[in-house]
Amino acid sequence: MAINFKELAEKYQTPYYVYDFDYISKQYNELKDAFKARKSLISYAVKANSNLSVVKHLGDQGSGADCVSIGEVKRALKVGIAKYKIIFSGVGKTDSEIKEALELDILMINVESEAELHRVALVAKELAKIARISIRVNPNVDPKTHPYISTGLHENKFGVDIDTAKRMYIFAKNNESTEPIGIHCHIGSQLTELEPIKESVNIVADLVRNIKSALKIDLSFFDVGGGLGIVYDDETLINTYDYAQTVLDALFGLDITVVCEPGRFLVGNSGTFVTKVLYEKINGSKRFVIVDGAMNDLIRPSLYDAYHKIEVLDKTEDTSDCNVVGPVCESGDFFAKNIKLPKTENNDLITIHSAGAYGFTMASNYNTRGKVAEIALEDGKDKLIRRRETFEDLIAHEEEYL
Ligand code: LLP
Repeated sequence: MAINFKELAEKYQTPYYVYDFDYISKQYNELKDAFKARKSLISYAVKANSNLSVVKHLGDQGSGADCVSIGEVKRALKVGIAKYKIIFSGVGKTDSEIKEALELDILMINVESEAELHRVALVAKELAKIARISIRVNPNVDPKTHPYISTGLHENKFGVDIDTAKRMYIFAKNNESTEPIGIHCHIGSQLTELEPIKESVNIVADLVRNIKSALKIDLSFFDVGGGLGIVYDDETLINTYDYAQTVLDALFGLDITVVCEPGRFLVGNSGTFVTKVLYEKINGSKRFVIVDGAMNDLIRPSLYDAYHKIEVLDKTEDTSDCNVVGPVCESGDFFAKNIKLPKTENNDLITIHSAGAYGFTMASNYNTRGKVAEIALEDGKDKLIRRRETFEDLIAHEEEYL
């Protein structure tokens, strides 16, 4: 959909994030459809964009929620996602988070270590509840993505190896306070190659067969994680149907529900970060375009050297090399280095694309900068879904120093 960035800037000021909700539905339906040969649950990875309206929009399509804190679980419940569609993952859950998750009676807790399994069993026993669990297996497969978002190798902190997983399934089966119902793996994010996914789902599917025959544990959920890549630059993406088919092939002969927990795939390309030019300046021979957004609003370029396509609205001519930078007092505060942009003037709008995932959710208040506005577009209509923070918002939790 063509978005009128200028009109939105006049109405809501800059910087802002805008999300195309129709695109989000399209992505959800494409993936759900790809798995239609089986029982499946798409559980949106809330961390990618946890705005309540975004989570609700996905929930309304039928999505569940993959959560990594009790806060995310509560977001999902608040917008009406059914508890039986909510999964709680993460390597370091606190006792109180485990307790709340059990009290909230969500679908399952995804356990990431033996120590954590023992803790879950203990907390469940104290509450006289049975904890439904899945175990995150680390298949030791290289996902061929950025090292910071790679999780499927033993050198990464995530999940447990196959032998540990087997021990944990035995424990969970024999313990009266735990019930093993699922298995999980997630090898990394922004995946653009199918082969590592194929390798890992085959390893995990073999394990499912193995624990079924050897341990007599019949699992109900096979969670393939998230990780499907999107276009930032000129990436060739994994075809959704090939992806689903690969998973379904691996599960041949097993009666098990497929769970998939994408974040970026559902929301990444729905979002644009819009900022305006404040000034241009030349230091020596280096041209800088200084904008009102900064690394605290969208940290991916600073943190991962991530590429986001940048354009100047309504200008294409007279381009030259520049760095696009924000007002924060860090040399790492940039959106792009050495890209070609047209000559800009004060108030020109700059659009930073593919910003719907891990954009706003990773924002901070560094330099006492309020978080920006978030806007949804649906059926051609815009709606403010988070207002811009004020100075009062920023100091609201601080005690006055006397
Ligand atoms: N499931 C698990 C267990 C995960 O750890 C993640 C992401 C997902 C699902 C969703 O992954 P997705 O489908 O969005 O790729 N901040 C980084 C990404 C970190 C991803 C963390 N885990 C970035 O900006 O690229």
